Amino acid sequence: MKLIDGKACAASIRAQIKETVEKLEEKPALAVVLVGTDPASQIYVRNKIRACEETGIISYSYTLPETATQEQLEELLETLANDDKVTGVLLQLPLPKKFNAEAAMKKIPPQKDVDGFSAEHLGNLVLNKPGTVACTPLGVMKLLEREGVDLTGKNAVVLGRSDTVGKPMALLLLNANATVTVCHSKTVNLKEICRNADVLVVAIGRAKFVTADMVKDGAVVVDVGINRDENGKMCGDVDFDAVKDKVSLITPVPGGVGPMTIAMLMQNTLDAAKK
Ligand code: GUN
Repeated sequence: MKLIDGKACAASIRAQIKETVEKLEEKPALAVVLVGTDPASQIYVRNKIRACEETGIISYSYTLPETATQEQLEELLETLANDDKVTGVLLQLPLPKKFNAEAAMKKIPPQKDVDGFSAEHLGNLVLNKPGTVACTPLGVMKLLEREGVDLTGKNAVVLGRSDTVGKPMALLLLNANATVTVCHSKTVNLKEICRNADVLVVAIGRAKFVTADMVKDGAVVVDVGINRDENGKMCGDVDFDAVKDKVSLITPVPGGVGPMTIAMLMQNTLDAAKK
């Protein structure tokens, strides 16, 4: 088994971005919008702002209380969309339940959509055309590329079908010529399908869901999950200790996909500013 070191990979990407940003006369500027006080979201936003500081990207942070209205949120996003100083806008998800996330996200124009969540960018991905790709699935592809994993003709299985990770992940793997199966909560024979995976990407948000009997010998396993186990310790969607001796490559949690998501956000922010 070999560990995929996402932390190191992300650090080297951030260093490259920093070099590029230093040479730019007009620095990229990312506006990050957080609604409410979800502790996990607060940590993610803090890490995103910190990555901006490290790479020389200007950041503006906006926090709305949970008591804010949909109108206030959309107004803020519209202001940021029209602000020439701001080159990228990120709305941290999930929003508190009372908000309409889809309507809010529509206020972010595709040129400033550094998450790649807009219909235009998702459409580009479906058509295998250039566009902004969601940070987490893009980070997974970078890790696989860096490890020299050839996806052509491989059975790739994606566990999870979220708009933010599972769906774009499946499309990226398909565009890389893998044979892709997407599994979800209604999937029948989940174990058998997973056991057939040469590459297994797990993004369901359930602690240690993937057990040894679900993994093929020599498989490449990518764990997107960030959960807490019964002792409050951070863990992924994969039962790492049970699976590690069967696989050829595996991402740890923490230190796997997580840092790559943020590095790809910096990359997307830089790319959006250049355009
Ligand atoms: N919440 C969890 N992951 C993400 C992400 O990649 N982007 C945004 N905007 N919110 C998230």
